[in-house]
Amino acid sequence: MTTGKWWQNVVMYQIYPRSFQDSNGDGVGDIPGIISRLDYLQQLGVGGIWLSPVYASPNDDNGYDISDYEAIMPEFGTMADMERLIAEAKARGIRIVMDLVVNHTSDEHRWFVEGRKAKDAPYHDFYVWRDPVEGQDVPNDLRSTFSGPAWTYDPTVGQYYLHLFSPKQPDLNWANPVVRHAVYDMMNFWIAKGIGGFRMDVIDLIGKEPDKMITGNGPKLHDYLQEMNRNTFGGKDLMTVGETWGATPENAKLFSDPARHELSMVFQFEHSGLDQQPGGEKWDLQPLAIPNLKRVLSKWQTTLGERGWNSLFWNNHDLPRIVSRWGNDQTYHDQSAKLFAILLHMMKGTPYIYQGEEIGMTNYPITDASEIDDIESLNLYNERVQAGYDPAGVIHSINVKGRDNARTPMQWDANDGAGFTTGKPWLHINPNHVQYNVASEVADADSVWATYQQLIALRKQNDLVVWGDYALLEDTADDVFAYYRTDQSHRWLVVANISAEPNAFTLMDQAERLIISNYADTALTGGERQLRPYEAFVVEVKA
Ligand code: GLC
Ligand code: CA
Repeated sequence: MTTGKWWQNVVMYQIYPRSFQDSNGDGVGDIPGIISRLDYLQQLGVGGIWLSPVYASPNDDNGYDISDYEAIMPEFGTMADMERLIAEAKARGIRIVMDLVVNHTSDEHRWFVEGRKAKDAPYHDFYVWRDPVEGQDVPNDLRSTFSGPAWTYDPTVGQYYLHLFSPKQPDLNWANPVVRHAVYDMMNFWIAKGIGGFRMDVIDLIGKEPDKMITGNGPKLHDYLQEMNRNTFGGKDLMTVGETWGATPENAKLFSDPARHELSMVFQFEHSGLDQQPGGEKWDLQPLAIPNLKRVLSKWQTTLGERGWNSLFWNNHDLPRIVSRWGNDQTYHDQSAKLFAILLHMMKGTPYIYQGEEIGMTNYPITDASEIDDIESLNLYNERVQAGYDPAGVIHSINVKGRDNARTPMQWDANDGAGFTTGKPWLHINPNHVQYNVASEVADADSVWATYQQLIALRKQNDLVVWGDYALLEDTADDVFAYYRTDQSHRWLVVANISAEPNAFTLMDQAERLIISNYADTALTGGERQLRPYEAFVVEVKA
């Protein structure tokens, strides 16, 4: 029996449409391609799709720069295709959650095209403009996430406009109520089409106060979200998830406490920053210390309580592949991919699988800057090389953290084109698709894919996975991450050795039954044992 909201009970699957499935041989994934893979997603067992943007866009940031929110990118298909996707998914028990990118539009959006004609033009106030100041290059020191200043001068208007991302992504002026209501109208347009909800891109930036150098978590942010809730999805059975890079467990409750009527949950990135030098950028690398991972994930598990809900993820279209990042994509590829799956999917919250994660897709290192596609990595490369960094070192950082790692085409089979396309793919296909692909994974009962399928089934069949309390086992080796999930009648113990080295672990409880494991012969015996490299298992123990 399931209780709670639908989105508390499902596993979500993120699709990056450009890289998922091409249907017409132009090398670009598309909506008919997604429809052709819905049976596959149903077989995996997911209950929702987070669809990265499919709206009209000049693709400066691959669809995160939208020129028309109510039109589909022609490369991806038509509105009729989109409606068919929503209906076909629904028929398989899968809801489509749309990416909502409303911190900014494309500079090719009609609002910006009109608004940049003159200071008093209609729509001028839809964006954030500032007059030049004598003796200053830019209004202030705000920086774009994609390198360089966050202000660009427009000679026609004679003013600077704000863009926290690329100059082709001007920030909307959320202080203007007309902007806010235009966004709500657009959201209602999509709600009327029967979607399952929204994933809200960099939503914690909409309350910004640029003159005070405030970008994230501005003073008006929560007022705006409550207003949005009232005017759009509030009271409907929809899921909303906010992308919030700066979230702490304390402010996450502000977003997701049901009593506040804002969002269902947020994407919290604290764990994702643990392999970056404190005070540095994501490119400034440091090794992950497992005790930090345990501390951070456990904090999120225990502090939201009844006033919030966790998103559980390792991967998305902005992050490197987990098996390469914190696992071992060579000797222990399958073991470590399964370990990270087990560790995350047994936690409390809504798990998100990013396309290809379920078959253990890996990073795809490049050797030369000419192979970079992503705007963030390209700008970073140019900026740092100009600043005197060693180019090889910058390429190394991009290979470890760059976003193209997540965006190489989905590996469906071992053929040329990986079953993704019959044409020339828009981005290089990882040559390891001959080894790691859906066709071989689905056929193998012992594959990474089979582990994901089993984990999803376990969540569906056991209320404990959805609702049970979480408690970390403190007294373990540094690299062993072990926790209990407990409800009125059952207790499960999850054990994961996040290391290529063996580690000792003492099973103090009376083990009753093995639930899942990533080695074939995990023993139920109590007492001390040696955990093997990347060994992970779940046992039901006496409560
Ligand atoms: C979010 C998206 C990312 C995009 C950025 C600007 O972080 O996930 O892909 O580049 O917002 O829209
Ligand atoms: Ca295509």
